[in-house]
Amino acid sequence: MSKNKTLSAAKSAKNDEFYTQYADIQKEINAYLDYNPDTFRGKTVLLPCDDPEWSKFTRFFAENFERLGLKKLISTSYAAASKKFKTPYQPSLFESESPQFDAAKTEVRGKIFVLDHDTNANGRIDLDDLEWHYLEGDGDFRSEEVCRLRDEADVIVTNPPFSLFREFLAWILEGKCLTQGRRGAEGVLAAKNAKQFLIIGNMNAVSYTEVFPHIQGNTIWLGATGFATDMVFAVPRGTQVSPADKAKAERLGYVGDYTRLGNSCWFTNMEHGRRHQPLQLMTMADNIRYSRHKELRENGFYYKYENYPAIEIPFTDAIPSDYDGIMAVPRSFLDKYCPEQFEIVGIAEGESGKELGLKAVPKELKKLNKSLRDGQLYYMKDGYPEKPFARILIRARRGK
Ligand SMILES: C[S@@+](CC[C@H](N)C(=O)[O-])C[C@H]1O[C@@H](n2cnc3c(N)ncnc32)[C@H](O)[C@@H]1O
Repeated sequence: MSKNKTLSAAKSAKNDEFYTQYADIQKEINAYLDYNPDTFRGKTVLLPCDDPEWSKFTRFFAENFERLGLKKLISTSYAAASKKFKTPYQPSLFESESPQFDAAKTEVRGKIFVLDHDTNANGRIDLDDLEWHYLEGDGDFRSEEVCRLRDEADVIVTNPPFSLFREFLAWILEGKCLTQGRRGAEGVLAAKNAKQFLIIGNMNAVSYTEVFPHIQGNTIWLGATGFATDMVFAVPRGTQVSPADKAKAERLGYVGDYTRLGNSCWFTNMEHGRRHQPLQLMTMADNIRYSRHKELRENGFYYKYENYPAIEIPFTDAIPSDYDGIMAVPRSFLDKYCPEQFEIVGIAEGESGKELGLKAVPKELKKLNKSLRDGQLYYMKDGYPEKPFARILIRARRGK
């Protein structure tokens, strides 16, 4: 199964059980600290949708509580009985051996772990000082009690359930228990006053109508770990994982119940500095002459779209440095997007494409390329209407 198929299979089975690895969390957080060592200082960090006994998020923030200068760490879990993906339930040893263990609550209640002082008086605040109890409800992030924790927090960090990504983002951005994100300019305005957050999602989410306006409006951006970097996740024992993803995970040193999710990336509204590093690019003439992409050199020019005044840029590193018009670039450009270097004009997909004013595709061309729809870009190649995969429209900023 390809990486995209694995993700959609997970989605259709509503399997949200993918556990983030320590190294991926550490690498991402370090980028924020490199930019500003005080990123988390004096802050309350909430880790919702976690399983604190196992979670590497809880472990990382608890172990680094003092180094990060945290004021308080709160981590909540979702009750096993409420999870969509059922696996045999067994309380952790940590829980079952705690004095507050309750057999009637263990499976149906969420749990809350809090760290804010040196409970064992050993002179430092760390993992051993975490205190816990059962929540009143199942730990659903939309519940009143978890909403209250969100309101208390300064920063929200997690890998939320993939199947509820839109809802989770709206929950953060709008500070309300909403079921739907607000769209367009209204949503962007709400996001300007949002809590700080760092969450894992699927790269495809950049095209969502609830997400793209934020990317364009610079209220959300991709995290520091590049989209091209594979992230590996632990999965419940026995979960079906494609042999290719398992092999990739193994090559990265994760043997057993792990999978790679090739489309996953971080979304944030926290500064990490990497996004202000401009891309080093060649002129159009030099790209055509020296590009490392054979097809561009052989072609000898950049295609112009038939239904929108933009040129097709097949690879991010082939963006010509001297072109002033609109350029349609692959979605992976966002990994390298520097807002001081480029402005995002729009996204050429579906309704957003239509709103941009893309001309309708003539019927005879739709017959030639049956996957071509109105609202999509196309250019003519040897008499055939070619449709690129997911393009973002950008324009260079010229020191205005
Ligand atoms: C992608 S996993 C990530 C877990 C953990 N944050 C990590 O990265 O290791 C998402 C978790 O959210 C839980 N979950 C699903 N729906 C939820 C909801 N409505 N409220 C809170 N948690 C939920 C899932 O059961 C799953 O354990």
